[in-house]
Amino acid sequence: MQDLIRQWDGESVVVRYDRPSDAWIFIVIHDRTLGMAMGGCRLKVYPTPNDALRDALRLAEGMTLKWAAIDFPFGGGKAVLAPSAPVEGKVREGLLLRFGELVESLGGTYGTGVDLGTTPADMNIIGRTTSRVFGRTPEHGGTGDPGPWTALGVFSGMKAACARAFGTRDLAGRSVLVQGVGGVGGPLARRLHEAGARVLVTDALPDRAARAAAQLGAQVVAPEEAYDTECDVFAPCAIGGVLNRRSIARLCCRIVAGSGNNQLEEAADAERLHERGILYVPDFVINAGGAIAHGALEVLGWARNQVEARVLRIGETVGEILEDAARQGESPLREAERRAQRVLRAAREKRTEPAAAALASR
Ligand code: PHE
Repeated sequence: MQDLIRQWDGESVVVRYDRPSDAWIFIVIHDRTLGMAMGGCRLKVYPTPNDALRDALRLAEGMTLKWAAIDFPFGGGKAVLAPSAPVEGKVREGLLLRFGELVESLGGTYGTGVDLGTTPADMNIIGRTTSRVFGRTPEHGGTGDPGPWTALGVFSGMKAACARAFGTRDLAGRSVLVQGVGGVGGPLARRLHEAGARVLVTDALPDRAARAAAQLGAQVVAPEEAYDTECDVFAPCAIGGVLNRRSIARLCCRIVAGSGNNQLEEAADAERLHERGILYVPDFVINAGGAIAHGALEVLGWARNQVEARVLRIGETVGEILEDAARQGESPLREAERRAQRVLRAAREKRTEPAAAALASR
């Protein structure tokens, strides 16, 4: 655990063990150059606490890049709650309440929200012990589930990728395989269906896949066949690390464009996709819709139609990144990271400017 944290390049890590739920809590602050660290809270059973920590470290870094890529005034952070077995009822509630206390004790360093395994109802509970929480249900003063907003952004980014790969943004007749039809994949599949795409779905939970397929007239693909299934667009909307040396060799698609955080097992996988001629839309750019909605609605006070327009602009950003990457013959990931780093660098320079000027005038 010590090595994992030392080798990582972020600011700080808060580790807590919660005995009543036998859960590890990691709150990870990656970079606050742009503002308060803000990122969702993941609740999941991991093989070991180190796996949970590793996930949290990478997710927090992804949030730094995400906020920078959309130029929003927030920093990168994330929380992972890792019980040894699924938690329900009172045990779950207790864990969430104590997590809220921990968030509150950080005094505005970190704000939390919905992520894989948590819901707006969970945020209501967390909101009893901290005010630094986003995505509560509307009755509790929140903006609810970020999932549909994330889906809207992915939809617009996918169209931009199709424009690049096929010469048209039109999704009618395109085959799209959605991996994971949960909080984001579900609404995304619906939008794709409405746009006339041929939707294929796969999910680790067979019931969920069957339900989505029945609603949309979609084809169900078995989880183990997902990477070998021919399609125009593969949309990973579930867990991370699905794009790796093994799966990339199998993929039969032109585009990878989905909502999952940390889709690549390692950065080199972006190059592997590039070499195979598969257009990969960097996750932290295309999945920023939820972050935009939370930040804009709950902190910056934007109106819903402004937020919608901003989320739809993800498509423009994706288009620019893909174009710049193609011009330089590089993978889109490199280009997206460069963009984000530019925003971070400009913010750091602006911050040191007044101090430097004061020194110079002495
Ligand atoms: N968890 C989502 C994401 O990774 C949405 C979210 C963003 C939640 C920001 C809280 C804060 O983008």
